[in-house]
Amino acid sequence: MNKKFLAGEKFVSQAYIDSEEKYKKMYAESLDNPDGFWGKIAEEFVWSKKWDSVLSEEDFVEGKVKWFSGAELNITVNCLDRYLEEKGDKMAYIWEGNGSGAEGAGRAEGAEGAEGAEGQEAVIRFTYKQVYEEVCKYGNFLRDFGVKKGDKICFYAPMIPETIFLLLACARIGAIHNVIFGGYSGKSIQERAEDCSARFVVTANEGLRGKKKIPLKEAVDEALSEGCNSVEKVLVIRRTDAEVKMKEGRDVWLDEVVKDEYAGDCEPEIMKAEDPLFILYTSGSTGKPKGVLHTCGGYMVYAATTLKYAFDVKDDDVFWCTADIGWITGHSYIVYGPLLSGTTSVIFEGVLTYPDAGRSWDMVERHKVSIFYTAPTLIRVLQKEGDDFPNGKDLSSLRLLGSVGEPINPDPWLWYYNVVGKGECPVVDTYWQTETGGFVIMPFPAAYPIKPGSAGRPFFGIEPVLLDNEGKEINESEGNGRLMIKRSWPGMMRGVYGNANKFKEKYFSRFPGYYETGDGARRDKDGDFWISGRIDDVLSVAGHRLGTAEIENVLVSHETVVEAAVVGVPDEIKGESIYAFVVMGNPSTSSGPSGSGTSGTSGGSGKSGTIEKELKDYVAEEIGHVAKPSVIRVVSGLPKTRSGKIMRRILKKIVRGESEDLGDISALANPEVLEELV
Ligand code: PRX
Repeated sequence: MNKKFLAGEKFVSQAYIDSEEKYKKMYAESLDNPDGFWGKIAEEFVWSKKWDSVLSEEDFVEGKVKWFSGAELNITVNCLDRYLEEKGDKMAYIWEGNGSGAEGAGRAEGAEGAEGAEGQEAVIRFTYKQVYEEVCKYGNFLRDFGVKKGDKICFYAPMIPETIFLLLACARIGAIHNVIFGGYSGKSIQERAEDCSARFVVTANEGLRGKKKIPLKEAVDEALSEGCNSVEKVLVIRRTDAEVKMKEGRDVWLDEVVKDEYAGDCEPEIMKAEDPLFILYTSGSTGKPKGVLHTCGGYMVYAATTLKYAFDVKDDDVFWCTADIGWITGHSYIVYGPLLSGTTSVIFEGVLTYPDAGRSWDMVERHKVSIFYTAPTLIRVLQKEGDDFPNGKDLSSLRLLGSVGEPINPDPWLWYYNVVGKGECPVVDTYWQTETGGFVIMPFPAAYPIKPGSAGRPFFGIEPVLLDNEGKEINESEGNGRLMIKRSWPGMMRGVYGNANKFKEKYFSRFPGYYETGDGARRDKDGDFWISGRIDDVLSVAGHRLGTAEIENVLVSHETVVEAAVVGVPDEIKGESIYAFVVMGNPSTSSGPSGSGTSGTSGGSGKSGTIEKELKDYVAEEIGHVAKPSVIRVVSGLPKTRSGKIMRRILKKIVRGESEDLGDISALANPEVLEELV
């Protein structure tokens, strides 16, 4: 695959970064003079008090990083207030519901109202002024409800306007939001709410995703049934007619408490640049998920600037990021980035394949979407459904296509480019993480040609390096190694919530002096990066990040399992799927250590089939359906070193069908297990 694609003349002629020279010049400046570079960009924002210094990198290696020290601001003033005068009537959000008109109609007071005839999707549009009013209303209410600056509020809520407004209302009054993706279980909510000592939870009676109804409130009830003593109140959004149990004194229907009296301006809480804005939990290679902490000033500047330059966002664009707000992509590029950029963006409640695989293209046509941003796993799903869906719609409004979450292989890249973008829209593959706050490596499409499958070059201020196995920097232009970042940038996480040492320990300790991404990458002679994926024990399943250790810990907590090893296996659609090897300890409930120990795929027969299903469901219950293994394979033993470490390398080879070449197995203490495994 040697083909390269430079954006067409029309795109280049209007692009912010319209030549390689310009990119190189700005990039060099961002590294040579970060204070000057970011200081100038920050001037474009509204601050209550300017900074004493742009960057105070006290000790990067210690994980101590500060941007815009001394400055004060409120991010929502930058999202909303500053646009009221000139752009108050500009559309900020176009929200589209999951399904039929009735589902979306009659909600979100103050909005333009639902449109769409029977059987069509309900659409509600909000101007900047309307979003401002909604956020103020909820901000006033939250304050009255007892929410104070610094309080933590967990969100387990659907992609509906109320959720977005309440998130922004938290930021307005200085409360710290912690969004938990709807695919996680009650147990996971509990873990996260306890970890951050949340005082409040926001949820809905139900969520709607395609044909499914998601019992959100029920999961919250489960989470709060034991523990979570810090949670005082639960705010319940009425998304559907479903009746749910309401606990007296704790649970409150949002529509019963948010009254007209809360309308009117809401004084923004003035935050220090380094005050927390939000916590978002993400999986690592060991132990429990970590609460990644982002702060107000640097995150704001970085989310807005990455969106502006990487996607070349202009005033008349309609931007649609299909992510869920449960992930960082939703935070940076649905909630904050688009409003900070003053653009119009689409929020979609449902799934791209409902009612059929044409939904995205239908929405692109109806809302005249110009920038479409989604994940490779979805591109592959839609590609599989055939070209008729995109070909049947007018997609001429599109001018840029984005991708995120995992490497996008050349075949779906080309389909996206040719069939969706008609060969005219650059495909911008954005590499980044929850920890990075915004894009760190992505191509500038009008500056240099894009190569399908490559994430391009570093964003401004990012200094990526590759380390070899000895931890030495690979300085030749071409190389393959561990992807590290050598200095801080404004959007970088500021810590692991509640654990001051963990930030250093997790990201800076193995290779002092660098931030460790956990990914492997290749750099080619042009300086373009090709991300190969995680090299630690983290999986990316349909773009969702999961720790193998997390899943293993759950499996061994099941009464029948004594040992478990989880590895990722390549999956045509999901990128990777979860393959779990388990050793059973209780022969009465399992196929037993001496059983055939195979059966592998689901639907195995007899007892082993039952226990496999039970274990899959158990993982889904404990962590959430996103973590459900595709395969549970019962074995009598796992390959281990003499010191007892499981040799996952061997298991990975086996699930990839590479048993012929297991590499060096001299460290293997129990070679007899190989016969059964292979
Ligand atoms: O392995 C990389 C992969 O997703 C990880 C980060 O996951 P998360 O924190 O959930 O954030 C996902 C959305 C930003 C990374 O360590 N990843 C993300 N984007 C790409 C990617 N891998 C390859 N190419 C990408 N564009």
